[in-house]
Amino acid sequence: MKTGLLDAFQQEYKQLLDWELRALVEKLDAPSVIKESMIYSLEAGGKRIRPLLLFATLDAFGIDPKKGVPVAAAIEMIHTYSLIHDDLPSMDNDDLRRGKPTNHKVFGDAIAILAGDALLTYSFEVISKLANEFASADTKLKLVIEMAKAAGTEGMVGGQVADMEGEGKKLSLEELEYIHIHKTGKLLRFSVVAGAIMARSSQSQFDHLSLFSHHLGLAFQIQDDILDLVGNQQIIGKPVGSDTANHKSTYPQLLTLEGAKDALRNQINMSKEYLKKTGLNTNLLREIADLVATRDH
Ligand code: IPE
Ligand code: IPE
Ligand code: MG
Ligand code: MG
Ligand code: MG
Repeated sequence: MKTGLLDAFQQEYKQLLDWELRALVEKLDAPSVIKESMIYSLEAGGKRIRPLLLFATLDAFGIDPKKGVPVAAAIEMIHTYSLIHDDLPSMDNDDLRRGKPTNHKVFGDAIAILAGDALLTYSFEVISKLANEFASADTKLKLVIEMAKAAGTEGMVGGQVADMEGEGKKLSLEELEYIHIHKTGKLLRFSVVAGAIMARSSQSQFDHLSLFSHHLGLAFQIQDDILDLVGNQQIIGKPVGSDTANHKSTYPQLLTLEGAKDALRNQINMSKEYLKKTGLNTNLLREIADLVATRDH
């Protein structure tokens, strides 16, 4: 489903984000191989759903989404780092990502690990150096704290650890929900609450957007599980059947494909309920929720 902002994002914001990412890496004074490795994965063709969420959240507050480009770049760096490491032989051992050979297949494990480290570290430098009217010292500190929590041990890393520990075991739905909310949901949530932080939202708007993005993040990973089973490799740009090969618990595996689709719809419906409560103009965020529910890649 396409709308004004989704189109504008494709044509304008995505372009601005891509320029920003390239400029940020190009200006680094470092051995060329690490910069090439970072750019290789950053420009491999991600959907940029997390930046889109930030831009749409800023728009809901009446803020020009362009003001969020550096924050979106930082988020996309963390996300890309998580994918580079997720694909490593010692993790999911995947050879294809975003339609191209995975980072370690091209640059080797050592540079892939270091490219991930570099992207993670740089993302915090980028946030710390933000300089516009929506980035006071106080705002930047809040962004750093929330981003660290989303990416770190209580966030994505914790989820990835539980995901690894769960391989070969039959997990309960509760355990699987923990994994999905943490490995994927926390960074998606941050993409939304970062907009609320920049906008200096009320506490109740923050809380409702937080719940919206919590349910959206879980929905996003349920669809990721579904696509791992029934997706088209040409379209998703990564191997189909990776979860089965790695003996992971997934929503379809625990609930059947139909059960997983029901769970996805439930999460999307819940997310939209919280969106309504924000009192903001959230048409675009609602359409992104529909996009998450129906995406084929
Ligand atoms: C894939 O994320 C990994 C998950 C956290 C589910 P995306 O589906 O957003 O991947 P890209 O950025 O479009 O490649
Ligand atoms: C990964 O989940 C989530 C991350 C933190 C990268 P998956 O392992 O299911 O992601 P894909 O399917 O490889 O993109
Ligand atoms: Mg994984
Ligand atoms: Mg994986
Ligand atoms: Mg997956």
